[in-house]
Amino acid sequence: MIPSIEWIDNKVKMIDQLLLPYELKFLEISDYRKMATAIKDMNIRGAPAIGVAAAMGVALATIEYKNLTKKEFLKKVKDAINTIRNTRPTASNLFWAIDRIWKVIEAAPDEPPEISELAIEEAKIMAQEDINANKSIGKHGAALLKNGDVVLTHCNAGSLATVQYGTALAPIRTAIEQGKKISVIADETRPKLQGATLTAFELQYDKIPVKVISDTSSGLLMKLGKVNKVIVGADRITSDAVFNKIGTYLVALAAKDNNIPFYVAAPTSTLSLHETSEKVKIEERDTKEVSHILGKLCIVPEGVECLNYAFDITPFRLITGIITEDGVFVPKELLKKYKS
Ligand code: MRU
Repeated sequence: MIPSIEWIDNKVKMIDQLLLPYELKFLEISDYRKMATAIKDMNIRGAPAIGVAAAMGVALATIEYKNLTKKEFLKKVKDAINTIRNTRPTASNLFWAIDRIWKVIEAAPDEPPEISELAIEEAKIMAQEDINANKSIGKHGAALLKNGDVVLTHCNAGSLATVQYGTALAPIRTAIEQGKKISVIADETRPKLQGATLTAFELQYDKIPVKVISDTSSGLLMKLGKVNKVIVGADRITSDAVFNKIGTYLVALAAKDNNIPFYVAAPTSTLSLHETSEKVKIEERDTKEVSHILGKLCIVPEGVECLNYAFDITPFRLITGIITEDGVFVPKELLKKYKS
């Protein structure tokens, strides 16, 4: 699958994911404000991709302000960072990325033009690190998959949700590269349908067998023995739980009830082990995403209210293992490994 986001000639080229699976079109962004809008409106989405997009957005701001005095430059870039920081509240990669690139900008002894070059370089390094981490997640996760396995996944934690290769879909890609026969069942993932529109698109693009189901079917398919393993992504991993797309918690409960291994795949940039789950803000998005299918067909009687939580909380007790770029960890081991 082609990269979902790239830095080319001081601009950002990204796949417009709102047009998929109907059209594979690219957005070219050179203004940090447009990057903030693309993150908020979900032209680009998925925690690792949001992180890299945010870092590239800050780099664009450094280009815009590099002819100012250093004091003005730092103030303006800080304002740009706050604009990007306020786009979406749950994915920890967003905050990890802007904190990291601000550290580089703030610590640089140079003048604005040189600092801008450093920021651009840092954003590009973060993009490459994301691909490397996903490949490692693929390697560690592929060892969990047996020839013939059917893997269920929820939302899109694939190449489109990262710079490239994906997190939850990485073990599947790697296992197939190793010659194993693996097929995927993708929850459609209401209300934004990332499973039906994005996961199915990229797996079909890579000629990986995939079937799409309604979210409410996953429990039955598990009970009927049609699912061997579950692998999902994560938006934030706290010291007691995993935050991922709404519906993940229900999939985890069904997996537990049917003794099906439930894995979470995520790079360490998604770890937020200094906090516990009750401290985390869960994004509530426009209720029109629920009342309308893809913003078009209204499926709710006029005047009836909707609620639209974008993520839910899966407690560690329902998780078999967490796959990072360093290996596969049962939750307790993950804390030992990464919690300082
Ligand atoms: O609202 P989205 O599409 O950004 O939600 C994405 C998810 O929940 C993914 O599973 C998660 O970000 C992991 S992406 C590798």
